[in-house]
Amino acid sequence: MPETGVRPRVFATRRLPGSGLAALRDECDLEVWPESGAPPRDVLLAAAARSDGLLCLLSDRIDAALLDGAPRLRVLSSCSVGLDHVDLVAATARGIPVGHTPGVLTDTTAELAIGLLLAVARRVVEADRFVREGRWREWSPDLMLGRDLSGATLGVIGLGAIGRAVAQRAEALGMHVLGWNRTPREVAGLEPVSLPELLARSDFVSVHVALTPETRGLLGAAALARMRPGAVLVNVARGGIVDEAALAAALQSGRLAGAALDVFAHEPLPEASPLLTAPNLVLTPHIGSASVRTRTRMADLAVANLRAGLRGEPMPHCANPGVYEGAQRARKARGDTT
Ligand code: DGY
Repeated sequence: MPETGVRPRVFATRRLPGSGLAALRDECDLEVWPESGAPPRDVLLAAAARSDGLLCLLSDRIDAALLDGAPRLRVLSSCSVGLDHVDLVAATARGIPVGHTPGVLTDTTAELAIGLLLAVARRVVEADRFVREGRWREWSPDLMLGRDLSGATLGVIGLGAIGRAVAQRAEALGMHVLGWNRTPREVAGLEPVSLPELLARSDFVSVHVALTPETRGLLGAAALARMRPGAVLVNVARGGIVDEAALAAALQSGRLAGAALDVFAHEPLPEASPLLTAPNLVLTPHIGSASVRTRTRMADLAVANLRAGLRGEPMPHCANPGVYEGAQRARKARGDTT
């Protein structure tokens, strides 16, 4: 930390796995929200207002209003790779570096996507219920017939690290993989196609784009109608990318054979969601990165980002590195050569 003689104040919106927060206590006045749910908005606003650093999660909304009320805040670190809950433009405009956790959750999230593809294709959740409900009378040749992944075509929407990791695993399972990225990208072993072509040709579609103004509602009613009849959709990215009402309708009508969602427009999923009554739909509670090893790595990286930011050093993973250039320009303008 800079030698100011004053320990920086940090608010962490949740307890985190691993020893990162304990290490932070040696350097900062650390306040950790003690409950298991997110701090209410008024608590978050008040804590941000008295803090130099904020360590948050994807369920904490960090917007311009929060930043306006937090004049001493100089570092933001989110224990997530996705940053759609943070107003990055507003943070950048205020010179606040924003840390996040790419890389460490790639394999874990890709594994869940493959797990969900298999779960839907082979009707695993339905079969589990069938056994538990005592409905299994005998082995029969047409009991719980599903679909093979091998030989089928998978369309990967978004070819960032997680999308590529899913493509790699799908290839190993014998799938033919099509890929689409907003900014075209060559990826070995994968056939690059337009989004309409991907939707029209894929037996399975897996979503891996970040949620941005451009991707919000990307898979709306029109896009879902372009999917092959009987296709399956998996989304482990962000809920806002898929129109949930249109998906529920496509499942109800049988136009799509199945889907699996780990992420939702509103989390936790509201009781009135049409998804809860849609058939052939596997639902999981945003657990893409939820392994002990990965969540510990995410927490460690989030703490490392925060510590670097408080020291005025570049973060290991900063989502708006332009803030450092801005600060450098300001120092130069002041004639400060350090
Ligand atoms: C993230 O970090 O953005 C993931 O959604 C958590 O699983």
